[in-house]
Amino acid sequence: MFKRTQLLFALVLLSFSPVFAQKMIGTETDAQKQKRMEWWTDDRFGMFIHWGLYSGAARHEWVKHNEKIDNAGYQKYFDQFNPDLFDPQKWARQAKAAGMKYAVLTTKHHEGFCLFDSKFTDYKAPNTKAKRDLVREYVNAFRGQGLKVGFYYSLLDWHHPDYTIDEIHPQSPKDKSDASYAALNKNRDIAKYRQYMRNQITELLTKYGKIDILWLDFSFPRKDGHGKGKDEWGSVELLKLIRKLQPGIIVDNRLNLEEYKDGADFETPEQVSTAELAKYRGKTWETCQTFSGSWGYYRDENTWKTHRQLLDLLITSTSNGGNLILNVGPTARGEFDYRATNALDSLSRWMHANNQSIYNCTFAPDSYKIPEGTKLTYNKVNGRLYVHLFDYPKDGKLTLPGYNGKIKYAQFLNDHSELLSKTDGQNVELTLPVKKPNYEIPVIELTLVN
Ligand code: GLC
Repeated sequence: MFKRTQLLFALVLLSFSPVFAQKMIGTETDAQKQKRMEWWTDDRFGMFIHWGLYSGAARHEWVKHNEKIDNAGYQKYFDQFNPDLFDPQKWARQAKAAGMKYAVLTTKHHEGFCLFDSKFTDYKAPNTKAKRDLVREYVNAFRGQGLKVGFYYSLLDWHHPDYTIDEIHPQSPKDKSDASYAALNKNRDIAKYRQYMRNQITELLTKYGKIDILWLDFSFPRKDGHGKGKDEWGSVELLKLIRKLQPGIIVDNRLNLEEYKDGADFETPEQVSTAELAKYRGKTWETCQTFSGSWGYYRDENTWKTHRQLLDLLITSTSNGGNLILNVGPTARGEFDYRATNALDSLSRWMHANNQSIYNCTFAPDSYKIPEGTKLTYNKVNGRLYVHLFDYPKDGKLTLPGYNGKIKYAQFLNDHSELLSKTDGQNVELTLPVKKPNYEIPVIELTLVN
């Protein structure tokens, strides 16, 4: 009797615990999800591309919000848009050379402008001087070069006449009173906008072949009703539709479906520091990061990350079991500017020599201590441990603490040159050349004893 009461009590407790309380939208099991996402977790590195009318303003993709510009005031960017240097083959080649395996392009950002030929709006690239569907060309180019293809689609829309004015809309009322919102929204109908979104996402997921990733952005629910979240977007129904149209697709976590276990495929820590990435270990995630401070092309933004910072992001993401998607904001003419190109070129050089420490890798088992001044990644399929030398030892000696008996062979990854070692019966000491190999962060490949 006592036992049965105990069991009942335990069951009640369990049903309140987050693991069991989480609702499901579909029926996919954990194993099925893992399989569906395998290519993505193996590939680790992607390219984000933010391109739109804001590229012409060249002062942040939120310029319409930041400067409270209305549709009439923003029209000049539409009239002016003329991407005469747009060459997505070149974009794809640059992404591929940098070691990126997938890409995600803004088909529509918060400004509402569509790079694709949607039959539900006139506010689109074919009606500008570009005169064509730019998304189609992107898809063909990237797919043609063997990269996986993703779409970013903004849930927000600061151009659509039925998109209700909320707290972050460029025309949000200064006094923030309910009455002002009501007056502004008198003729707006969010249900119509919701349908518009569904129509456009349907176009994107039916007219361009297999789409690998859908990056929806973003939710900001507010108790006072002046935000937007799952109810405004119709998120549950939307996600069902997406999964029906593209069963293999990978969807981000910005639909505000946190209460559902399968409401998202991955987490999206945005512009976080490398130190913060450790807390995502064990989850499925992708950190999105800019080269500089803005996503859209920002001519006068000068806080560009260094080559070392970019490598640190890539290595630290992998060493915590996550992905990195690095953003390029092409110019209004449709090119990656010289700063982005330089950054990609440096990554290309490093990835050419060292990409095996990234692809198919994750965090190392706890039984391998992290040698001082390094970060580890681990390929469990071939039993290799990769030691990234953030601080190159000045005396040419690297101690691997407690590694005696664990290593079969040690070499630099970039040129497969052997690294000799000795042991004191517990630690292993590698002898490295005093002159650092010509890579910002050289990598040692250890073949482990299995
Ligand atoms: C934010 C911004 C947006 C950018 C996105 C990328 O949500 O609104 O401009 O596209 O982050 O993660």
